[in-house]
Amino acid sequence: MNRLLIILCSVTLLVTCLAMTWQQEESPGVVLPGDSQRIARRDFMRSKLMYSQLILEGLTTHNFDMINEAISNMKMVTEGELWVAVDDDPEYLELTADFRKAATRLQEAVDTKSVDGTAMRFYQLNTTCIDCHQYIRGRGYKL
Ligand code: HEC
Repeated sequence: MNRLLIILCSVTLLVTCLAMTWQQEESPGVVLPGDSQRIARRDFMRSKLMYSQLILEGLTTHNFDMINEAISNMKMVTEGELWVAVDDDPEYLELTADFRKAATRLQEAVDTKSVDGTAMRFYQLNTTCIDCHQYIRGRGYKL
């Protein structure tokens, strides 16, 4: 029994060492120069999804402060320098404005402390995400 345990531990250790060596060799190759900016931008754009999840969490746990903080952060994403801006496309600018307007309405609903009202405004915000994403897919905008 003890022998089996020693063998098991050795195998686990070996696999861990191999995985670590592989990671050390792989990581410089995975992030190519120039890619880091793109990855940072993607993570930044993706963060909207994380804030969405926090809003849902706030709604389910009746934590309006959590919702308020998440909306403020989400709005800041559209103002950040990593926001994918397509300034010469009026439709994209309009979709960005719609998103910000929906976020403001959601903030106003939070002030009323009504879960139903906030949930409805959250739903409307989500449709602006989908609208813009459908638009950018159609246009072929990519990171
Ligand atoms: C006005 C346009 C616009 C709105 C509104 C918008 N996004 Fe995005 N989003 C983008 C663009 C542009 C990108 C970067 C291009 C891409 O990756 O497809 C992006 C990227 C993302 C990504 C990363 C996709 C990937 O391939 O890794 C996620 C996730 C995301 N957005 C979620 C959301 C969520 C959730 C909302 C709403 C709360 C939202 N977006 C609202 C324009 C928008």
